[in-house]
Amino acid sequence: MLHSHVTGWTITLILFIICAMKLRTGQPPKALHMILRLMYIIVLVTGSHLLFAVWQMAPMAIVKGLVGLWVISTMEMTLVRGTKGKPIKGSIIQFVIALILVFILGYGVLG
Ligand code: HEM
Repeated sequence: MLHSHVTGWTITLILFIICAMKLRTGQPPKALHMILRLMYIIVLVTGSHLLFAVWQMAPMAIVKGLVGLWVISTMEMTLVRGTKGKPIKGSIIQFVIALILVFILGYGVLG
């Protein structure tokens, strides 16, 4: 399950970067954004499995899961706001902070 989780968020991050680059060229990343949303679900399901079955709701694993959710919401916020032509600087900054935190928690604290 850990491998599926790692594969899941790796594909998610790559898709998000491609979607964000498409936005910069002025094209809304419609189909790719839909695939990215499917990937969110895979990351959520695999992450929840790790949280409940492997880590049995250990407090740090709960924090890790919440920060993981924060990463997903900042990606979604960036793409939705960007598609509407709204400023995305704030959500990109949040994304970077959440991503750094999730790696510290995932590899430094839990890993
Ligand atoms: C895009 C969002 C996410 C990213 C980038 C991410 C990243 C990571 C990373 C780097 C690890 C450490 C992997 C390793 O030890 O090899 C990890 C593990 C974990 N993730 Fe996520 N994650 C995300 C979303 C989630 C969500 C939504 C949940 C819970 C609902 C979650 C729950 C967990 C748990 C419990 C572990 C601990 C597994 C372990 O080290 O044994 N993650 N994640």
